[in-house]
Amino acid sequence: MPGFATRAIKAASRVPAAPQPPINVPIYQTSTFEVASALELAELLEFARAGHSYTRYSNPTHAALEVALAELEGAEACHLTASGMAAAHGLVLSYLRSGDEILIPRAVYGGMVGLARSVLARAGISARAVDTSDADAVLAAIGEQTRLVWLETISNPTTAMADIAAIAELAHRRGVAVAVDNTFASPYLCNPLAFGADAVIHSTTKYIGGHSDLTGGAILGSGERVAAAREIVINAGGNAAPLEAFLGLRGLKTLALRMDRHSANALAVAQALEGAPGVAAVRYPGLASHPQHALAQRTLRGGMAGGMLSLQLTGGRPAGERFLDLLGVAVHATSLGSVETLCSHPASSSHRQLGDAELAEAGLTPGTIRVSIGLEEAEDLVADLATAAAGAAS
Ligand SMILES: Cc1ncc(COP(=O)(O)O)c(C=O)c1O
Repeated sequence: MPGFATRAIKAASRVPAAPQPPINVPIYQTSTFEVASALELAELLEFARAGHSYTRYSNPTHAALEVALAELEGAEACHLTASGMAAAHGLVLSYLRSGDEILIPRAVYGGMVGLARSVLARAGISARAVDTSDADAVLAAIGEQTRLVWLETISNPTTAMADIAAIAELAHRRGVAVAVDNTFASPYLCNPLAFGADAVIHSTTKYIGGHSDLTGGAILGSGERVAAAREIVINAGGNAAPLEAFLGLRGLKTLALRMDRHSANALAVAQALEGAPGVAAVRYPGLASHPQHALAQRTLRGGMAGGMLSLQLTGGRPAGERFLDLLGVAVHATSLGSVETLCSHPASSSHRQLGDAELAEAGLTPGTIRVSIGLEEAEDLVADLATAAAGAAS
């Protein structure tokens, strides 16, 4: 009879049969899977047979969320990643090589600027910022080396919107692909592939997770595109984790309900704060005053515009910093897309290196506050944010 340690390891490795399927997908918290032959392992590592070999490549919990997200985005395939930035990195590099150029929005999530400067530049790939709220400006910017146009359905943090269908049509005529970061809209409010985009990424950290308790990302598109991006993610080690995939699945079940409420709360706050003391402007695609309001009505589900808005305070940089100290309901924290309302001041945080002129280039003012509206009572949020705006100005 084998010794105790041997028996303990064997005994504790037996996977139970589960004749009644669990309601929730189990967390397959394992880094590796037993195979029956060298050929089986070789084929699994090449994705030439169904199954799993090693969690950096694939995992059943990841697969469950991948299939669900692909269905909800209308994509052929999906690959999960460690973060939204790992998804952006894998997808961008699947399109580009040394000498190529990517066009990115002038108002873009700061992480994309970081990716361009710290990773793409080293690989000889250049990035150029364009006003992606103007399809003709994007077309005019496409040059000999341009291979990819990067869009955000709704931009972080200005809420500027890109006309995905118009840009995809123009870019495709020039043989240039279009990838969309659909994080702010989520698959509930918009499906960029249906508007002609070639690929989509999400930071699942945000609305898909929805509770500020996971970090993850997803790449979606054709089987061929996702396989190309997956190869980069696997080799760069940007894989997802089973617990994060489980939390993503849990979040997905309530995504629609949450987005309805985020959108209703954000519209109520945007309407109440437009013209309120201390507020120079409110940027929210659901407001008639938003430059792309008509596009939002046309392309986002039911005209709902999600939970992200930006407030431009009258008192500039000092007012932006004071505003955060005056919050009682909303929380001063980075990130977005969660049940709690989160506020940040880009000029003193994500965009702190930029002077006023550079902020203006990115569509920001020194007093811009980014607000991720949560699921609290709308009237409590209106009172909290209005009080902080008025107090910050005085
Ligand atoms: C629009 C957008 N895309 C991508 C990311 C990156 O996501 P992650 O932090 O999961 O890497 C963020 C993060 O804030 C974001 O706001």
